Amino acid sequence: MRLLPGFLSLVAQRHLLSEVRHVLACAPLYSPAMPRSGSPYSVRMSNCGSLGWLSDRSGYRYSPTHPVTGAPWPPIPHPILDLWHETTGAAYAPEACLINCYAPTARLGLHRDQDEHAKDAPILSISLGDTALFRLGGPDRKSPTRSFRLGSGDLMVLEGPSRHWFHGVDRIAPGTSQLLPEGGRINLTLRRVTVP
Ligand code: SIN
Ligand code: MN
Repeated sequence: MRLLPGFLSLVAQRHLLSEVRHVLACAPLYSPAMPRSGSPYSVRMSNCGSLGWLSDRSGYRYSPTHPVTGAPWPPIPHPILDLWHETTGAAYAPEACLINCYAPTARLGLHRDQDEHAKDAPILSISLGDTALFRLGGPDRKSPTRSFRLGSGDLMVLEGPSRHWFHGVDRIAPGTSQLLPEGGRINLTLRRVTVP
């Protein structure tokens, strides 16, 4: 895992946020449901890219279209693609950019990103808004975990073995950033889905 704290300046964060808002105007945030139980996540989600990650009663999967509007996801904005190439060094592009929106009380349970065929491709995480207490474990659900803060403008690359490690968001620290007027946090997760 490679942490790039403070990688984005405040100006760059604002620029990225306006790109994300444009995406969300086309592909609105929705409340996904957990497989089987159908209980809602506390995180609202959307995507951009040729494929978007979805969770519903029937399971997890990638889809080229928004589950509510039925429209194709908007393309990944260029500044976000540039960050991918710059930080991962990958020549191929990501196909999916998951947008997770955390209200002040939202959290995300420990999980692994394992719905991608491109098992060796890195994952880039971009944090905007309030600081998250992020938990990173290891290859097994029972592996020891550690937690650290992801603040606005911090980037994290999960690569090598850490690409497959368990991780989650324990909580958000409200009021730690002024970037989002409504408070809370937005995380962008960029992934390659098909084998490049
Ligand atoms: C995720 O694992 O889907 C998102 C992690 C984060 O919000 O930092
Ligand atoms: Mn994840």
